Amino acid sequence: MSIVAGKRIVLGVGGSIANYKVIELARQLTVAGALVDVVMTEEATRFVTPLTFQSLTYRPVYTEMWSTLENAAAHVKLGEEADVVLVVPATAHTLASIAHGLADTMILTTILATRAPVMLVPAMNVNMWQNVATQENVALLRRRGLHVLEPDEGMLASGITGRGRLPEIERIEGELRALLGRSSGRLAGRKVVVTAGGTHEPIDPVRFIGNRASGHMGYAIAAAARDEGARVILISGPAALQPPMAVEVVRVETAQQMHDAVHEHVVDADLLVMNAAVADYRPAQAVDHKLKKTQEQLTIGLERTPDILQSLVDIKGPIKVGFAAETNDLLAYAADKLKRKNLDLIVANDAVGSIGQPDIEITLLDVDGRHTTLPRQAKALIAEQLLEHVLQRWPDRLGRTDAPNSTPSTRFQED
Ligand code: C5P
Repeated sequence: MSIVAGKRIVLGVGGSIANYKVIELARQLTVAGALVDVVMTEEATRFVTPLTFQSLTYRPVYTEMWSTLENAAAHVKLGEEADVVLVVPATAHTLASIAHGLADTMILTTILATRAPVMLVPAMNVNMWQNVATQENVALLRRRGLHVLEPDEGMLASGITGRGRLPEIERIEGELRALLGRSSGRLAGRKVVVTAGGTHEPIDPVRFIGNRASGHMGYAIAAAARDEGARVILISGPAALQPPMAVEVVRVETAQQMHDAVHEHVVDADLLVMNAAVADYRPAQAVDHKLKKTQEQLTIGLERTPDILQSLVDIKGPIKVGFAAETNDLLAYAADKLKRKNLDLIVANDAVGSIGQPDIEITLLDVDGRHTTLPRQAKALIAEQLLEHVLQRWPDRLGRTDAPNSTPSTRFQED
């Protein structure tokens, strides 16, 4: 199940022209199953009406500290009940107010009263952002354990270009999922390495041998692991997709580069998912100039690429999951690879019905011969179920490295 499903998210909305983007964020979080309580400053209501948010979140919207609340203690209630508090956009004034502990708006009292993680997403004029006053406030807030996103660079509403743009909604949602994962996910403190896509093996400077892998499956696995709070290294071959936000992306092109990247990152990993469709052969001699069509027939000699999983056969640390995409004798080939490559689990799938397709059906084969078939569905759902299977199967080798919500916080001085 999605990390945001059923979560209480307080979404504080400051006054900014960027507010039109926040409407879409509120909608996407609601669609993903979150209970989104929107709290607007007076200035925010000048850009977007509370009714817009109310219609999309199906919940009351808070605008004044006392007016919409049923009792006097309620100005702190939202913060106490929240799983996460998010402020989008956080203006220079809001950042300064939070840094100084001011409490004269509902957003500020909610932030003061909450023990949940807080994420602030600034948007402002470039000079306001670069002003030492703002930068020192941001540094102070980060030291106290609040999560402050860097604004994007680009065209600002004032017409000038610089840092200060509200980040894209996808980035805000990805960072939010990662933050929720770290506070309540089951892989917090763990490192997960995922390979995705295919590899390109150069023939000459402009041509390559490749395959139809799209990267969808591996990217979905990386997103699912991020949502559970893991630090995710996504080693990706060339793919046209936007990688998930809040994961570390290592881009590679060839099987050799993927081999080297996996070896570098697998050392202290808890889980390795080798989803990539790595080329088995590469041109034995890559030519350094563009081949001309001077011959009627051209023969390109091929040699084996390194088998990455095979090269890790003696590594004991991480749980190793491989993929077997076959056109025939699927389970027999998969079982053979599981054994030969010394894996904990192999995901068997029909190569034609899965590579480059949006949906997939898979069978999981694990070391003691158990088979589990997951019926055809979207790769994002398969990714979540695959991760669930791994979490259930090896609770002793995975799981959080601390108790949920026990992230040390410097925000509170205990008695
Ligand atoms: O042997 P085969 O290529 O069919 O095995 C598939 C599994 O091995 C996949 O998990 C794939 O990522 C991995 N693999 C690898 N190095 C290669 C080829 C495949 O690690 N050179």
